[in-house]
Amino acid sequence: MNQNINIRPERNDDINPIEIITIEAFKNHPHSNQTEHKIVTRLRDNNALSVSLVAEINGEVVGHIAFSKVQINNEFIDWYGLAPVSVKPEYQNQGIGSQLILAGLNAIRELDAKGCVLLGEPEYYNRFGFKALSELVFKGVPPEYFQSLLLSGEMPKGNVEYHKAFV
Ligand SMILES: CC(C)(COP(=O)(O)OP(=O)(O)OC[C@H]1O[C@@H](n2cnc3c(N)ncnc32)[C@H](O)[C@@H]1OP(=O)(O)O)[C@@H](O)C(=O)NCCC(=O)NCCS
Repeated sequence: MNQNINIRPERNDDINPIEIITIEAFKNHPHSNQTEHKIVTRLRDNNALSVSLVAEINGEVVGHIAFSKVQINNEFIDWYGLAPVSVKPEYQNQGIGSQLILAGLNAIRELDAKGCVLLGEPEYYNRFGFKALSELVFKGVPPEYFQSLLLSGEMPKGNVEYHKAFV
């Protein structure tokens, strides 16, 4: 675990580094169409980037995570989508992604989030409490990859839609 990581909200001068890190992180990703950096930009341009945190080490931005509101059955009910999360390849497997995820979940809790969803590898996200739950459905992906984390209240049921920036 790298001890010198500083996690903080994005600033204007992080926009370019965030774009570069996102491109680099997803470059060889098997399920990516390499448009994740555009999603971040579109969310920001649409004022829909609810939480955007960077990880920096000695002043260098090496990781980024984004959260945006999702709709469940066409309604915003304080559930968020975690995506994308990116760590610069040479800094991966040092705990930076985990710190970004934990800090991001705290940040959406501050916004009174009721829960969070994501698409990703179950082995990785289970460690943060995410599980594939039958109550929430995201069409078009194998259900085991669509995972949810209830933060407060009752578990909703229905179809989940991300912001149009993801399309
Ligand atoms: C996923 C990602 C953000 C994790 O960041 P990281 O800083 O490398 O993660 P951490 O150091 O906190 O955790 C590393 C652990 O996660 C595991 N891991 C990382 N990516 C994984 C994946 N796709 N599937 C399963 N496990 C994964 C590692 O094997 C390691 O396991 P260990 O703790 O048992 O050794 C980073 O690998 C990344 O940017 N990947 C490319 C982009 C991506 O896939 N984003 C997520 C999809 S939205």
